[in-house]
Amino acid sequence: MSISTEARPLPLPSDQDASGRTLGDEEIRRLTEAIRSGTLTSTKGAFAKKLEARWAEMNGSQFAYACSHGTAAIHCAVAACDPEPGDEIVTSPITDMGALTPILYQGAIPVFCDVDPATCNVTPATVERVLSDRTKAVIVTHLFGNPCDTSAIVELCRSRNIAVIEDCAQAFLARHRGQAVGTTGDIGAFSLQQGKHITTGEGGLVVTDNAEYARRMFLFINKAWGYGDPQPDHYFLALNYRMTELQAAVAFAQLDKLEDVVDRRIELAENLTAALSGTPGISTPLVQPCDVHTYWKYCLRVDADVIPGGTVALGAALKQRGIFSAPRYIQKPAFECEIFRNQRTFGSSRWPFTLARPEAVDYRREAFAGTYEGLDTILVLPWNERYTDEHVQYIAESIGACVSELKGELV
Ligand SMILES: Cc1ncc(COP(=O)(O)O)c(C=O)c1O
Repeated sequence: MSISTEARPLPLPSDQDASGRTLGDEEIRRLTEAIRSGTLTSTKGAFAKKLEARWAEMNGSQFAYACSHGTAAIHCAVAACDPEPGDEIVTSPITDMGALTPILYQGAIPVFCDVDPATCNVTPATVERVLSDRTKAVIVTHLFGNPCDTSAIVELCRSRNIAVIEDCAQAFLARHRGQAVGTTGDIGAFSLQQGKHITTGEGGLVVTDNAEYARRMFLFINKAWGYGDPQPDHYFLALNYRMTELQAAVAFAQLDKLEDVVDRRIELAENLTAALSGTPGISTPLVQPCDVHTYWKYCLRVDADVIPGGTVALGAALKQRGIFSAPRYIQKPAFECEIFRNQRTFGSSRWPFTLARPEAVDYRREAFAGTYEGLDTILVLPWNERYTDEHVQYIAESIGACVSELKGELV
């Protein structure tokens, strides 16, 4: 069956409402249980603890903690490393701001490294280029669900005593060389925000095998109050980043659905990849043979030498057919945002940027060729486990038709 892509846009399920979410009776049942218990704080309730135990088991990790947001999860991971003010944390300029601001709140300096334009992920070579004797940690974002080469990055960092934090907000159940992302480095951080593989509206999770990091993360979530200690105190500066029992009840039910969500996203993505193969000017996601990409989004690369107007023109043409893609993903590299350009932090102090080595905050364009090329060429398609084969066929045919149109071919 061929679908006319111009005559009738086919509505696609969206992760912003029930059409593209797996929230159902199981979540309602668990939520009701939590409410009827009358205990909505995770310091006393059962759900956050059950969620943490199950998430640790699913990852094969020794420790897992629930927290309020993905941003909080990254903050816990950074705080676990306990940087001195002015220490450096290497990170990607193509990520969510929630992966970056915790570094500054913890008094450390985000040092951006370039990415591979083919995946927009950081690589061992780009990380190595910016390491210094002040580097305390490296945060890798597995962008769109496609794993970074963490094994080589970990190797690079081990001998220098640098921690590796994996930002898995977009990469639930992705695997690098057979191992779950989040467990290939020292700490894994996840987000349960509305648009992620599974959701509680807002929420976060962290995993680690390191008892010291685990202890610090548990405390950091809890205002550093030593729950369960013989003589508890507030041991260090920390916030209340707790998940509520309401969120934990929903997350606990969502976990049971995660494997099916991921399997279906992969199956659908592989179908689109097959359908698009041979489309001139379009490159489908580059996944290493030893890795499993779990498709938070489906990211195309568009060659503007072949398709006039490139990613922006293709995005606009797809919009006419009801497909709302994101050319560039983010409009500019993170270091071009005012927070970094103007060092807007605490009052007018510019702290902690005042402690930075000049090279660490030098955002010269030449050092980020891969980043600019990557952003100029990517087109990010929303992806969802509720797509049917007909939806994928519609997307593939729309892309084909738009490419032909832009090339001035008869369609
Ligand atoms: C890669 C990445 N890191 C961190 C975050 C922050 O997570 P949250 O929005 O749950 O605070 C997100 C989510 O948007 C993300 O995509």
